[in-house]
Amino acid sequence: MSHPRIANPALAAKIMSAQDAAALITPGSTVGMSGFTGSGYPKAVPMALAERIEAAHAAGDPFRVRVWTGASTGPELDGALAKSDGVEFRLPYNSDPIAREKINRGEMEYFDMHLSQVAPMAWQGFLGPLDTAVVEVTGVRPDGSLIPSSSVGNNKTWLDRAEKIILEVNRWQNPALEGMHDIYYGTALPPHRVPIPLVRPDDRIGETTFRVDPSRVVAVVETEAPDRNLPFSPPDETARAIAGHLLEFFRHEVAKGRLPPTLLPLQSGVGNIANAVLTGLVDAPFENMTAYTEVIQDGMLDLLAAGKLRMASATAFSLSPEAAAALNADMAAYRDRLILRPQEISNHPELIRRLGCIAMNGLIEADIYGNVNSTHVMGSRIQNGIGGSGDFARNAYVSIFMTPSTAKGGKISAIVPQASHVDHINQDVQVLVTEQGLADLRGLSPKQRARVIIDNCSHPDYRPMLEDYFTRAKAGSYGQQTPTLPGEALSWHQRFIDTGTMKL
Ligand code: COA
Repeated sequence: MSHPRIANPALAAKIMSAQDAAALITPGSTVGMSGFTGSGYPKAVPMALAERIEAAHAAGDPFRVRVWTGASTGPELDGALAKSDGVEFRLPYNSDPIAREKINRGEMEYFDMHLSQVAPMAWQGFLGPLDTAVVEVTGVRPDGSLIPSSSVGNNKTWLDRAEKIILEVNRWQNPALEGMHDIYYGTALPPHRVPIPLVRPDDRIGETTFRVDPSRVVAVVETEAPDRNLPFSPPDETARAIAGHLLEFFRHEVAKGRLPPTLLPLQSGVGNIANAVLTGLVDAPFENMTAYTEVIQDGMLDLLAAGKLRMASATAFSLSPEAAAALNADMAAYRDRLILRPQEISNHPELIRRLGCIAMNGLIEADIYGNVNSTHVMGSRIQNGIGGSGDFARNAYVSIFMTPSTAKGGKISAIVPQASHVDHINQDVQVLVTEQGLADLRGLSPKQRARVIIDNCSHPDYRPMLEDYFTRAKAGSYGQQTPTLPGEALSWHQRFIDTGTMKL
């Protein structure tokens, strides 16, 4: 049987319904799903699996699975499975609100890990066996190779390692995606590792399709469903101020000769502020820029369309509905300037260090010494996860963190005496930016860092309290390298719980 999207007869013979495919997933098994920030995740099998789990629970059968993905996915995967109470364990990154609640109630185990380390750890055997892969693809070529979808994530590894493979072939994905991907098959475990032969962001070092052993493909499911494309809010005054400080910093670095006029490959985190910075670069005096990043969001496409960005390399799209439509309408033109790679390559420390990326990420709180908490509210309640921020921050040419100076409508300061949880130690945080200003922390001692962070980044409403803490810490601290008053860190937040202004 020939089929336009599934051009390999052996795989076309395995077409079945999502329900029949989900029935092949066994209770207690580990399932490696595709998906990265709402793109390229399977949309039918996880929902059918969730229905099956709910039916099993209603019959008193405690059916649960372990779920691995690329990063966050969509409501049809993380939302549906979390709602069914069917996930025993999840890695490596989640932003789904239902799953977040389950994790924070202690009902789901969550291994929040560096995104570059997922594939190597799977190969090293540290994560246990992978029973089933459920991977969305754009199509199957006559030779059985798979045309990847709008994200690559860990799919190469899931397809190579899983005992059973279920493919979702999504007609919604544009066939013109073919040729955009660069799937590198040269990674190996120590002692056989060799340098990855990528020296410029636009180098192509791999293949455009995934290899797959057809004998392990147990089901092929046809779908026609959109990725989860969420709108970005237009940059507000805070986002515009942060972008302004950052652009001024770049101009200054170019003038000093520390950055070339093209800048260095940009990495931009997720969210509205990161997107606002990219949008701000459209009118900035930098030309022929490149991006070596994790996700391509609207601002990147704006920069490409404006001719300011020469090309972008990532592992996934993370677009608004309008930007997704614009990309779809002009995919062939973008295809030559965009490269999607496995996340072990898009986030590889060796490559980030070699290319000299400019890393720009968000945070929950930073302390006056520049330690950054990206993940845990009050040190214990997870928001999303570290994602790729650690991969980039540790290895970047310059590591920038940006945030509004306050959260929760001004009721909480994002600059605190002591971070309640640390994802990025002060050595990995070189520049801190809020709407108040920018702190260039390079080459400064802890006390010098505290001075510029309090002066340049904190909100005026909180500056006197931070000043008071810093003065008392210098007077009463056990040591004077990083003056600290133990015990005050959480009391700083406790006020908000006591006054009932923070929901836990
Ligand atoms: N105290 C308490 N809550 C805080 C807070 C603080 N200091 N700072 C932020 N929050 C809350 C916000 O109020 C918001 O809560 P809500 O969803 O209930 O409204 C939530 O955290 C998210 O904050 P938001 O202002 O929407 O920030 P954002 O979209 O810019 O995200 C991070 C900020 C840190 C959550 C996000 O950047 C992230 O997950 N980072 C880690 C992963 C990463 O960096 N990935 C990119 C690497 S390539």
